[in-house]
Amino acid sequence: MVTRAIIVGCGGYLPQRVVANDALGEAFGIETSDAWITERTGIRQRHVAAPEETASSMGLAAARQALERAGLEGAAVDCVIVATATPDSAFPATAVRIQAGLGSHQGFAFDVSAACTGFVYALGLADSLIRTGQARCAVVIGTEVFSRILDWTDRGTCVLFGDGAGAVVLVAGEGRGDATDRGILSTHLHSDGRYGDILLVDGGAGSNGECGKLRMAGKEVFRHAVSKLASVVDEALAANGLAQSDIRWLIPHQANLRIIDAMGKKLGLPKERVVVTVDRHANTSAASIPLALAEAAGKGLIERGDLMVLEGIGGGLTWGAALARF
Ligand code: UT7
Repeated sequence: MVTRAIIVGCGGYLPQRVVANDALGEAFGIETSDAWITERTGIRQRHVAAPEETASSMGLAAARQALERAGLEGAAVDCVIVATATPDSAFPATAVRIQAGLGSHQGFAFDVSAACTGFVYALGLADSLIRTGQARCAVVIGTEVFSRILDWTDRGTCVLFGDGAGAVVLVAGEGRGDATDRGILSTHLHSDGRYGDILLVDGGAGSNGECGKLRMAGKEVFRHAVSKLASVVDEALAANGLAQSDIRWLIPHQANLRIIDAMGKKLGLPKERVVVTVDRHANTSAASIPLALAEAAGKGLIERGDLMVLEGIGGGLTWGAALARF
């Protein structure tokens, strides 16, 4: 028998304010069109945080929903990991603020910085911590307020992102140690800093008193996304002796519908097995995968025992995939 990190609850939070593509002009003074955004990305609208909302307030709401769905109290949590590129402050970590909000005073909490791949990284860490006995009940959260780091005069980037948070609760359980087990089967993490300048936040991050804005060379990122995501998913399947036909659900990072469709096609999955939220949420960076998972699980679409592939790519460049059985 081996220890596995089993997903027992998923939750999400989206700010109330919704801005549709054709309202962007009036709301933010951008010269764009619904047709341009929809054709290139599949995005139709995004949620935008209210001034008082933060990465920790949204992450806490998502974590509370995930715990409620798991039937667990905050006090049971002994590990909180937050993936975010938009933390409340340099320190304390956003995860520590959420830990306090959950009423969990045991264990430990910390943040992970891996941009849009942050949730996959955080999931990999939680899996390792649970499998090595350092944690028994982990809450893994992706939470972002990208609206605050966008250059609202750059229509090539500001139309692409939205705010929100998603969370999963993982608990230690037993498995046989093969690919039939429930829980996280494996995670596969990559980064290549040679491509650090094609997707970044320029300026500082608090350390020099100046907060930067998001910059992206979209076409280049697109090219990397298609090839790197395909290869990391192959890597994950091979590591578990699984075939594409074993996959029940693709839960991809939600950046662009064309990239998501290309992955679904590559894996031979019908459209109804690919979870898509990018049309309504836009790109919520580290929050997009857990938000998509929470939506599909909340609707009862994903059944116990279903094999899921989670994958994403983001600034760094970072990219990665996780295979998990629900
Ligand atoms: O989350 C991390 C991962 N990120 C991604 O996966 C993003 C990957 N990249 C992409 O999804 C695409 O590259 C974008 C959707 C970002 C951009 O699509 P594109 O086809 O690469 O467009 P482009 O940036 O080359 O721009 C084409 C044209 C330009 O006009 P000209 O120079 O050809 O006259 C832009 O000025 O579209 C113009 N344009 C816009 N027009 C209306 C750029 N943004 C807009 C806009 N509205 N919002």
